[in-house]
Amino acid sequence: MSHDLDTLLTEFNQSLLVVKTKTEAMDLKSKFIGPKGHISSILKSLKDKSPEEKKEIGSKTNEYKIKIETLIGNKLSVLETEEINQKLSKNWIDVTLKDSNLDLGLNAGGYHPATIVQREIEDIFLSMGFDVLDGPHIEDDWHNFGALNIPADHPARDMQDTFWFADNLHLLRTHTSSIQVRGMETKKPPFKFVAPGKVFRCERTDASHDMVFQQLEGMMVGEGIAVSHLIYFMKTLLSEIFKREVDIRLRPGFFPFVEPGFELDIKCQICSGKGSSEGCSVCKQTGWVELLPCGMVHPNVLKAGNIDTEKYSGFAFGLGLDRLVMMRYGIDDIRLIHSGDLRFISQFKSY
Ligand code: FA5
Repeated sequence: MSHDLDTLLTEFNQSLLVVKTKTEAMDLKSKFIGPKGHISSILKSLKDKSPEEKKEIGSKTNEYKIKIETLIGNKLSVLETEEINQKLSKNWIDVTLKDSNLDLGLNAGGYHPATIVQREIEDIFLSMGFDVLDGPHIEDDWHNFGALNIPADHPARDMQDTFWFADNLHLLRTHTSSIQVRGMETKKPPFKFVAPGKVFRCERTDASHDMVFQQLEGMMVGEGIAVSHLIYFMKTLLSEIFKREVDIRLRPGFFPFVEPGFELDIKCQICSGKGSSEGCSVCKQTGWVELLPCGMVHPNVLKAGNIDTEKYSGFAFGLGLDRLVMMRYGIDDIRLIHSGDLRFISQFKSY
């Protein structure tokens, strides 16, 4: 029996020499030490042996089993290392790739212009103590309309036609103002946050209108918050983004969720505000672009958010992020922004 074990080990070693893959190694393992393998059958056959033989052969068999296990383990780790090395030799990354290479125009990647501007705005507001919130693209009626003082059948719904789901309860959000409602659900006043994100509208596209575009909502609620605070934050935002004076105008605007409400327009940076004489399709020959509607949060909205309107007031704004990107970089058609056209995007390589 002891002789059988020696022969078995020799046979195993010879077979191990020609093993090339992990599967072959595992097959060999089960052939020798698996439940139906050679070693197991030797152990099973011990039942007919004398106690002395059982003791001697049993311990030797276990010793061989451990040897085989170790040899297979070593083989597997050799094969694994070979496999990893092979993969590394095919999929390598160039850790020396740095700005000097990028300056030569080699394989340069970068952020989308909308991402660059979004992050800059987030940083500006973070530095002023605001939080940055997120919200779902698929909303329910309450968060998109109801809680924002736009009950069913209110004509203001027509201004934001969108895509409804078959259940007639859910829709693709038409504005980031839905995050005002979500913010009030999770925060206790005083609070202030901005919330960027994609919004969706069922509307005809042109140089300044898309069906999917980005907004950035802002909301600040606390004691004694007034229009002067709103104007201060709007001015800070624009001066930080443009790093120069840009002409703006504030005019009354109607949104059911603010009172008073304003439209903040920016002088068109595409035609430099010349409007009609240049035939500008972005500002539609008016010289001004609607950019940043805003106002004091309507008490009904605060009440829907369980906020004490005797004690607290707040402002909110809804920046047209893509339009700001257009104004900042002189992009004369909003549809380029989400076109995915590399010829367009690669002009904005930046880290
Ligand atoms: C709203 O969506 C309001 N929720 C904004 C608001 C928030 C007002 C908080 C008051 C307080 P409006 O539909 O005007 O408003 O859109 C806001 C901005 O998004 C516009 O000024 C414009 O810059 C941009 N915008 C609107 N429609 C489009 C469109 N189809 N394509 C690209 N940008 C658009």
